[in-house]
Amino acid sequence: MDILVEQNYESMSQTAARLVAREILLVPDLVLGLATGNTPVGFYSELVKLHEENLLDYSSLKTFNLDEYYPIPPSHPESFTNYMYERFFNHVNVPEQNIYIPDGTVESVEEYCRRYEEWIEESGGLDLQLLGIGKNGHIGYNEPGCSWDSVTRLVELDPRTMEGQSDKFDNPPTQALTMGVKTIMGADQILLLASGAKKAEVVEVALNGPVTTDVPASILQLHPNVTVILDREAAAELDGC
Ligand code: PGA
Repeated sequence: MDILVEQNYESMSQTAARLVAREILLVPDLVLGLATGNTPVGFYSELVKLHEENLLDYSSLKTFNLDEYYPIPPSHPESFTNYMYERFFNHVNVPEQNIYIPDGTVESVEEYCRRYEEWIEESGGLDLQLLGIGKNGHIGYNEPGCSWDSVTRLVELDPRTMEGQSDKFDNPPTQALTMGVKTIMGADQILLLASGAKKAEVVEVALNGPVTTDVPASILQLHPNVTVILDREAAAELDGC
């Protein structure tokens, strides 16, 4: 596992974007797993900037997002679909048919989740998966106690996940569609980002503690190709940082 500690949020975002940009330059038809949340906002801005400067072409890229609230219409301002279009897809040239985001409106959930896994497989699997980490150690919406064998499915959100979000929703969602731990671990390469003092403790536990389903991100210790990019605050509890 490579751990890079950057001075601040901006340099964390820039380093992450450059790493992904290099992969896209080398493999234009990369299959890229994407994440939402506060952490990757700067990362997406950097990728948009590279495109606007004509340095990066996304016309062969294929993307799969990790998760989406359920149920939620894509047009909801807090949907991850809306997040992705506002921050990234509306500003770059990823072809519409190459964009996969779990659909928070589907009725046949089980069948849809099975198809989502098949779409990833039919694309040749995830080359690179971007991840954030929840304060409770979740990756995607694989909450504490989830199974290492899990694939894309409907999950109940941990109460801690929705803390402080009640201002954003009339009825905060209690469920989500998410890629599973097994789906994530199937990616050839994983890029985990974390920023800010509120992530310092969970970062330390996930990277140095026991591998346990109580801290889903700890499974990344078993993946052979993980890069972790932290800002100084998120790295504060790690030895030598
Ligand atoms: P955040 O969320 O980037 O908004 O902190 C990360 C996550 O829950 O995975």
